[in-house]
Amino acid sequence: MIAEARLRDGTPALIWPLDPGDREAVREGFEQLSVDSRYHRFLATVPHLSDAQLDHLVDEVDGVDHVALALVVIDDDHLGVPVGVARMIRYQQEPTAADVAVTVLDEWHGRGVATALLDELMRQRPAGITELVTTITADNEASLAMLRSLGRTTVTPAGVNRLDVVVDLTQPDEPAEESTEEPAAEPAGQSPHPNDAGDL
Ligand SMILES: CC(C)(COP(=O)(O)OP(=O)(O)OC[C@H]1O[C@@H](n2cnc3c(N)ncnc32)[C@H](O)[C@@H]1OP(=O)(O)O)[C@@H](O)C(=O)NCCC(=O)NCCS
Repeated sequence: MIAEARLRDGTPALIWPLDPGDREAVREGFEQLSVDSRYHRFLATVPHLSDAQLDHLVDEVDGVDHVALALVVIDDDHLGVPVGVARMIRYQQEPTAADVAVTVLDEWHGRGVATALLDELMRQRPAGITELVTTITADNEASLAMLRSLGRTTVTPAGVNRLDVVVDLTQPDEPAEESTEEPAAEPAGQSPHPNDAGDL
C-alpha cells in the first residue's frame, strides 16, 4: 500500500513497502551514510552491506513478521529519491514484540522523515505487535526521541554506551521512566535482535 506523507517543512513524500526491486537502492543508500549513522544504526562498524545482510533486509521482508517501508521524495527532475527506511521485525519467541529500526540519509536528518515513516509503520505494523524492544547507543538522542513518541518508554542502561529501550504501544507517550537497575549481563528480552544484520 502506497501512502502519501508530508515532512515537517511540507515537502511531499510517498511511503511504500520495500520489495526485492529495492535491493540496489538499499545498498546505495547505505553507502551514502556517515560513519556515525552506520554506527548508530548497527551498534558496530559496518563498512558495506554484505549480500547476506541484503537478503535479510530486503528479500526476507514478508509483510507479516517483517514489515519494511521506504520514504521517497520527488526531486527537481521529478524522480523519486529514497531518503529513509523503517522496519519492524517480530521476535519469533515473543510474537507480540518486535524490534524496530529506522535509517535516514544524513542530509535529511531532522526534517521529519523518521516521524513520517514511523507514523505509517505503526499503521502497517505486523499484526498483534504491542511492544517494541530494541537497543540503541546511549548518545542517540534522535532515536530515543523518535521511540518515545510511540508510547510509554522504559530505558535501561545496557553496558558501555548502550541503552535497552522498551516501548509499550498500548500506552500513550508519557514522561519516560528511566530505570536505575544495573544492566543485565544480556539485554533484557530477546537476543540477538532480528535487526542485527543491519540495513538502510
Ligand atoms: C534516528 C533517525 C532515524 C531520526 O531520523 P530523523 O528523520 O532525523 O528524525 P525526525 O526529524 O523525524 O525527528 C524524530 C524525533 O527526533 C528528534 N530529533 C531529531 N534529530 C535530533 C537530534 N539531533 N537530537 C535530538 N533529537 C533529535 C526530533 O525532534 C523528533 O522528536 P519529537 O518527535 O519529540 O519532535 C536518524 O537520525 C538516523 O537515521 N540516524 C542514524 C541511524 C539511527 O540511529 N537509527 C536509529 C536506531 S535503529
